[in-house]
Amino acid sequence: MTEVKSVSFFSIGFELVTLNEFLTYDLYVNSSTSEKREHFVKVFATGGILEKDDVENFRKKYFQLYVLESQRDQYLLSLVKSKNVSVEKKTEVIKNGAIKYLDTLFSSDKSFTTEVLGKAIEGCRESVEYMVDIIQDHKITDIQNLIGNLSFHDFYTYDHSVNVSMYSISIYKALRPTVTKGELSLIGLGGLLHDLGKLKIPTELINKSGKLDESEYKEIMKHPALGRDLIEQEIIKKRNTHISGDVDFETIARIAGEHHESYDGTGYPIGLKDREIHVLARIVAIADFFDAITTKRSYHEALDTDAAVEVMGRCSGKKLDPMIFDVFVENTTRLVRKRNVTMELAGDFDPSQPHDVLPLERVKATKMNLDLFKKDDKGFGEVKKTSEKKNAA
Ligand SMILES: [Fe+2]
Ligand SMILES: [Fe+2]
Repeated sequence: MTEVKSVSFFSIGFELVTLNEFLTYDLYVNSSTSEKREHFVKVFATGGILEKDDVENFRKKYFQLYVLESQRDQYLLSLVKSKNVSVEKKTEVIKNGAIKYLDTLFSSDKSFTTEVLGKAIEGCRESVEYMVDIIQDHKITDIQNLIGNLSFHDFYTYDHSVNVSMYSISIYKALRPTVTKGELSLIGLGGLLHDLGKLKIPTELINKSGKLDESEYKEIMKHPALGRDLIEQEIIKKRNTHISGDVDFETIARIAGEHHESYDGTGYPIGLKDREIHVLARIVAIADFFDAITTKRSYHEALDTDAAVEVMGRCSGKKLDPMIFDVFVENTTRLVRKRNVTMELAGDFDPSQPHDVLPLERVKATKMNLDLFKKDDKGFGEVKKTSEKKNAA
């Protein structure tokens, strides 16, 4: 046994170690009998093969297992590939990692340095890459079930950001089955950071239950531009220091800045429409909407998948890109298409605005003609540059 001093460790559950394969990290226990003192001892070294009985023996003797912080990457990679760990457990670990980085941003005094932002984005990027490995072949409904089994955190924005990231990865993969892992990670990161601008908005306003008054709503509506500006600062910093990382910050900035734009041009902050809105922002908008109405928040009940797809269908071609929405619907294994649409959300519904009760109304209008939006439409998914941005409203 090797005694180790003054290095940091993180704890892992007994069910989260790699079994029956070469271990790619060292395993430690805290052998101290005093709560005030920690005494880490290596009990299994890299290269060994752990069996179930070994772990059961550790479980009898110790409270927890530990891995060196410097071996976190090796551990996470091994966890993601592990055959003996469930998708729920893997996702939980990766989600908690992502939340740790979001927390360094959202719980700061809102005047953090660009260095903090850069580090947090880098951490989020790593989490998203692992997330892509775990969930890229899961349908929306699988992810929804998965999300239902994960633990929730106090701050809604954390869970919401992770959920939107996961849904966005799934929708993008369904839209373009040959998409690369790098592109999936890009949209995953965009989904994770889409509401970044909310960290500049008072937390009481973001978590307020009950309808916001006009001035409060105007304040919330600033978050896309604030998020875009924060990420653009990161681009400037990188340019000034001549660091060319592999994160496409331009696209992340557009996702943050354009996720509340509407397909028909009635969104904010600019009023972009159709393909003026980045295709990844149009995907994130659908993921954002879906999570806002299917996740139970303290101030409103959640809709089930069928009802959610039904009410979102009423916004297809208006708020939401109808072709991407079509792919999204196909990727939810439900029967909603066979049902008559009976409910719709009030026209001014905004997923970023809290509601005591979701503003559902009985459908009055006739069905819209979805044939207008053929999937084989040339140029589908193309992105127009927005250098000719209109003035923000
Ligand atoms: Fe938002
Ligand atoms: Fe959002």
